[in-house]
Amino acid sequence: MKPRTLVPLVVAFCMGLLPMSAARAGDAGIVIPKLLPQPAHMVRMQGSFAIDGNTGIHADGVVARTAATQFAAMLPASGPQPKRVASKTPEGIAFAIDVAQSWPSPDAYAIDIDASGVRVRAGDGKGLYYGAVTLAQLLTSGESTASVRLPALHIDDAPRFGWRGLMLDSARHFQSVDDIKRLLDAMAQLKLDVFHWHLTDDQGWRFPVPGWPKLTTVGACRIPSGDGGIDAATGKPVPYCGFYSEAQIREVVAYAAARHIDVVPEVDIPGHATAAIAAYPQLGVSGQPIAVSSEWGVNVNLFNADEATMRFLEDVMAQVAKLFPGRYVHIGGDEAVKDQWKASAKMQARIHELGVNGEEGLQAWMIARLERALSAHGKRVIGWDEILAGKLPQSATVMSWRGTDGAIDAARQGHDVVMAPASDLYLDYLQTDSPEEIPGRPTLVTLKQVYEFEPVPKVLDAQQATHILGVQANVWTEHMRTIARVQHALFPRIEALAEVAWSPKSERDYAGFLRRLPAMLPRWRAQGIAYAATPFQPIVTSDAQDGGVQVTLSEPLGYTLRYTTDGSAPTAASPEYYATLGLPLPAAVNAQAFFDGKPLGAVVARAFTITSLLTRSDEELATCTRKLVLRLEDDGPRIGDRAIFNVDIFDPCWTWKRAPLTGIAEVQVRAGRIPYFFQLAHDESSRVFKPARTAHGELELRAGCDGQALATVPLPAQPDADGFITLHAPLRGMPANTDLCIRFTGDTRPAMWVLDRVTLVPH
Ligand code: ACM
Repeated sequence: MKPRTLVPLVVAFCMGLLPMSAARAGDAGIVIPKLLPQPAHMVRMQGSFAIDGNTGIHADGVVARTAATQFAAMLPASGPQPKRVASKTPEGIAFAIDVAQSWPSPDAYAIDIDASGVRVRAGDGKGLYYGAVTLAQLLTSGESTASVRLPALHIDDAPRFGWRGLMLDSARHFQSVDDIKRLLDAMAQLKLDVFHWHLTDDQGWRFPVPGWPKLTTVGACRIPSGDGGIDAATGKPVPYCGFYSEAQIREVVAYAAARHIDVVPEVDIPGHATAAIAAYPQLGVSGQPIAVSSEWGVNVNLFNADEATMRFLEDVMAQVAKLFPGRYVHIGGDEAVKDQWKASAKMQARIHELGVNGEEGLQAWMIARLERALSAHGKRVIGWDEILAGKLPQSATVMSWRGTDGAIDAARQGHDVVMAPASDLYLDYLQTDSPEEIPGRPTLVTLKQVYEFEPVPKVLDAQQATHILGVQANVWTEHMRTIARVQHALFPRIEALAEVAWSPKSERDYAGFLRRLPAMLPRWRAQGIAYAATPFQPIVTSDAQDGGVQVTLSEPLGYTLRYTTDGSAPTAASPEYYATLGLPLPAAVNAQAFFDGKPLGAVVARAFTITSLLTRSDEELATCTRKLVLRLEDDGPRIGDRAIFNVDIFDPCWTWKRAPLTGIAEVQVRAGRIPYFFQLAHDESSRVFKPARTAHGELELRAGCDGQALATVPLPAQPDADGFITLHAPLRGMPANTDLCIRFTGDTRPAMWVLDRVTLVPH
């Protein structure tokens, strides 16, 4: 079918040039499209078409009928419910494969809306599916009512990149098949098309391999560190286990395929291999039994490169090739510190026997061998950028995570590249400074940073740039015990990723994105997705000043903030926040973010008294060096909520800058104790602590990180039954505005004290 001639334009414009919120005369009741990702080309025409329960959906042929059925399933129950009809109605929605037009990619589609209906066309089922996704977003761009009037439009859309990926780490924490399906649904709605599934690591092996049963009976279980791994009633260890059966993997792959998503499995070699070696010690360098790791970081255990181990890995690759029909298999290659290979006479003999160039040469040899095995199964190899260290088979694709240098090197060497730099696209890094963030790495990767990431490095010439297949965000799950945390980490930043991956560079516009983003929130809520509330909520900070309080509000994404100081909930008519509020004590501030006259997130309520201003939580304190700050969850209780602590694991200390110490008689420190559950490999030497002077160490207060000692209090052997202790340190004659630094002495292994709250007690 050819595109129908559209009614003459009154105003036709590229949506990128005019704010999407710009309404025009005669537009009353017509929704303003809120599409994510923004289409490559969208032109508004004169006229409109209403869709309701009487509208027919027509599709000819299996592929179009599938897209039409999927479209109907995408619509929320509260919106219009057009019905599938067998014969074409004069007015309605039509899905059709159009082979007469030449399409730029299988993902391309077109939508035409005029007074007589909606036509969705594509050359391929994938493009038609994306047309259905866009049409569903058009219908959910405004209020959800039984009839929705769409503007007349012409959309011609195709993606900028073919690889629009998301990596989920199911090794560190395990997600159910249903949770993964919900994630695949969300990916498909954002036109993401690669699900990179990280299935093996030091902490767990997550799929069966025929002939190697212990991979799942042993390698799929670990005993979590500390209280999380012990049954409080019996004192017995409680393993954390999980693996996907062959049937479940097939189910996930089929579910993804129905949504035009390829699944790329990852088997990490030669490092991140502890779980496999725990199952079969003969795969490791020492051959000695080891446990599946319950510690995060970089573990030194590597596969050896014996012939028997290579045959094991070839069995694994055969199984992967059987279960995953896609083109790529990810073989890891990251963070394989070579200490064990260097120290082993057997490994050195193997290097000599193979005639390879040292340890990097041995890793490259393993990769080349697996590449041959995989290409015999019709697969291509992809690996983390460390695989560039040795001679890499030309067909291998490089996933650049340590910045973009790996991508540049790889593209210059003629390798295909997927951009996934940790600095911009690691979604386990936290997204705001809010004290309500989930556990993770508090180095910020903001929504704006993700949005503004440019996948094609400027230094590549046009030919080299053709090697950039696309972009991918990664979510590592060390600190994400629940799917709600994974969803918090992903949403809304995954929307920014989708636009980077799909929309032409010329259509990328952060301000326009922020105007469209709020339309996603009810869509996610309807699907039960626990998107992060923190970007849509004010962050409140306060400082005591002149007997009153200075309250500063910020909204992480820059949406309008409104507030009240009389205890009432803010409304669209409440004052807009512009600058720090100076308030007498006691004071109450209720603040909320608004967009288009409607609240975006919850009210944040804070009350301030003389006493409350003398207490700070760990989130409100600085650290001395910020060597490796983590936002860590307590190890217990095994079931239920756990405390969360901000701690610099290399140099644990907490500083209250310019603390109001005049007239303070005592500093109360509430502290918890968590296992030191990290493997740091070569960074171990960065871990510092002050030696204990008494049996269990001391709480130490100083004026500044390396300043004069103010007070020292001995620590007990253990916290109280609730997991905390409160220590009382007397102070005397301190000047105002002293930087108060709080540390705990003693080795941080095997467990370390962490600060929860500090309170200044006046005379
Ligand atoms: C990685 O983050 N180790 C690829």
